[in-house]
Amino acid sequence: MLVDLRSDVLTKATPEMKEAMMSASMGDDVFRDDPTTELLQKKVAEITGKDMALFVVSGTMANQLAIASLTHPHDEVILDVKSHIFQFEQGAPAVISGVQLRPEPFIEALPDEQMLEYAIRFPDVHHPISRMLCLEVTHNYNGGMIPDFEKLRDVCQKARDRGLKIHIDGARIWNAVVASGTPITEYACLCDSMMFCLSKGLGTPIGSILAGNEDTIERARYLRKGIGGGWRQPGMLAAAAVYALDHNIDRLAEDHRRAQMLAEAVNRHPDLEIVGRVDTNMVFFRPKKGDLETYSNKLTARGILHDWQHFKAIRLVTYLGINDAMIEYCIEEIQTIPLF
Ligand SMILES: Cc1ncc(COP(=O)(O)O)c(C=O)c1O
Repeated sequence: MLVDLRSDVLTKATPEMKEAMMSASMGDDVFRDDPTTELLQKKVAEITGKDMALFVVSGTMANQLAIASLTHPHDEVILDVKSHIFQFEQGAPAVISGVQLRPEPFIEALPDEQMLEYAIRFPDVHHPISRMLCLEVTHNYNGGMIPDFEKLRDVCQKARDRGLKIHIDGARIWNAVVASGTPITEYACLCDSMMFCLSKGLGTPIGSILAGNEDTIERARYLRKGIGGGWRQPGMLAAAAVYALDHNIDRLAEDHRRAQMLAEAVNRHPDLEIVGRVDTNMVFFRPKKGDLETYSNKLTARGILHDWQHFKAIRLVTYLGINDAMIEYCIEEIQTIPLF
């Protein structure tokens, strides 16, 4: 059996989603002529409680537009050293926005008070200007961890009091919403901008969305065109996104249940250990002894595809399209694969 647990971006549109896509409008979105895209953006603004939303091609584009819209050249953006924006977006804020990133070793996805105080610079002719704090929910590199909500609220309040703009990279925020029961509006009201991906757990072929106030989103719409992100006829993709929001959120609980099944199998193995916490749809683990690459090769040989190089641990991700039989197979293999 082949079980591809490399990432939740591997979701495929279901027949029902494809049907919704086939009946989508075909207007030009640069002219703002596409009713399905307008409907999607209005729907996301309502769901999040933000003024407006902007449909974009990827999570990376949404993050980069948020930074570009909320900063100026010479600004500094505080973020976790393990954040997607710092680790996996090619240093793009330096190129697109002319800003400097200030990575700090956040604890369980959040800066503590001292760390934040230390990171915020006092005004001085030598310094960049501390302008923005970026947070990640769920936190990919921390195994899909949901940051503690009270602490998150506290950090956002402190950052706001110090005049920082706040962006939440919520690529998988719906996983946090479903797993914790905290409504998305509770997250959204903490920040100036929030993005989430439609192409991950929600199961669409392409797309992410950025939500914020009118000025931020109009600025992002302007800047999106300049980086080549103006859509011509995105109606079919917007229709997939509307379908996903209506049908694919609650089912994320299934992905979380399956991740727990995998985590329990790892925990039962005397020579394997979970890395971090399994809060949502990811399981990070590694052999207690022996070589990670060798173990990774063995998993691959048994048909369990995974990521390991980026995170220095085996990462398994559950998503729409992974069923119980596949998980049972993985559990069996994890129990029996020799480590050496
Ligand atoms: C936390 C986080 N933010 C942003 C992204 C970027 O999304 P995309 O691959 O659509 O650019 C990802 C992708 O895995 C992610 O995990």
